[in-house]
Amino acid sequence: MTAPQPTPAGHPLVRLSHVTKRFGSFTALDDVSLDVNAGEVVVVIGASGSGKSTLCRTINRLETIDSGTIEIDGERLPEEGKDLARLRAEVGMVFQSFNLFPHRTVLDNITLAPMRVRRVPRAQAEARARELLERVGLADQASKRPTQLSGGQQQRVAIARALAMDPKVMLFDEPTSALDPEMINEVLDVIKDLASSGMTMLVVTHEMGFARSVADRVVFMDEGQIVEDAAPEQFFTAPATQRARDFLSKILSH
Ligand SMILES: Nc1ncnc2c1ncn2[C@@H]1O[C@H](COP(=O)(O)OP(=O)(O)OP(=O)(O)O)[C@@H](O)[C@H]1O
Ligand SMILES: [Mg+2]
Repeated sequence: MTAPQPTPAGHPLVRLSHVTKRFGSFTALDDVSLDVNAGEVVVVIGASGSGKSTLCRTINRLETIDSGTIEIDGERLPEEGKDLARLRAEVGMVFQSFNLFPHRTVLDNITLAPMRVRRVPRAQAEARARELLERVGLADQASKRPTQLSGGQQQRVAIARALAMDPKVMLFDEPTSALDPEMINEVLDVIKDLASSGMTMLVVTHEMGFARSVADRVVFMDEGQIVEDAAPEQFFTAPATQRARDFLSKILSH
């Protein structure tokens, strides 16, 4: 049997071309084009309501789009059906709220989708789940229920759960904004570790220190548009637009 070919570095794993999304007469995404290349970490920042979550949700087709195209690893996102489910499984998503099953153990939360969707045998799914728990620093919490864990620990379980599907890309939508301050770093450290392992990621965050140190590119959104797409050093020291300067002066003055 031949091993699967690794995706060549730099090849676009997520490609949005001229994507527009409206809610009624309101345009939430306005002609957005964006590539996330294999191995890249793209951080998305912007004011509340600028369209960051909508961007993530359209990539996973939790929202339909009105025009434009979205491709995952060269394949256009289908409207529905089995092909959609298959492509969706290639994109792991971690939200602000962890959405773990409260009555299941940590281990079950991680093994359920691989067993049901990918038909992975239980023993194999559990072995993989334990490996992932080790990786996110929770090896000793497998038999607990989510309510017995701190917020930071629950979010690390949610990350392990997403990784259990072996996604090609991970999307994070403000993964630390519901956490108490002392738990933010333990989650950011896990995400940093993933980044350095070569995982392709799109991360929406207000953590500017993280953006600056981990991002390969920073994408700044305003009113449904991508206004800047730049290397972090460039963006934070010399933003090209007044809109970005206004945004940065507001958040960095806190
Ligand atoms: N289901 C919906 N129906 C109507 N309007 C929506 C819906 N979802 C989002 N919107 C609107 O689209 C705009 C973009 O929302 P979105 O959630 O993408 O913003 P965001 O950048 O993620 O903001 P935040 O930083 O507050 O999370 C907002 O004005 C929002 O009110
Ligand atoms: Mg949001």
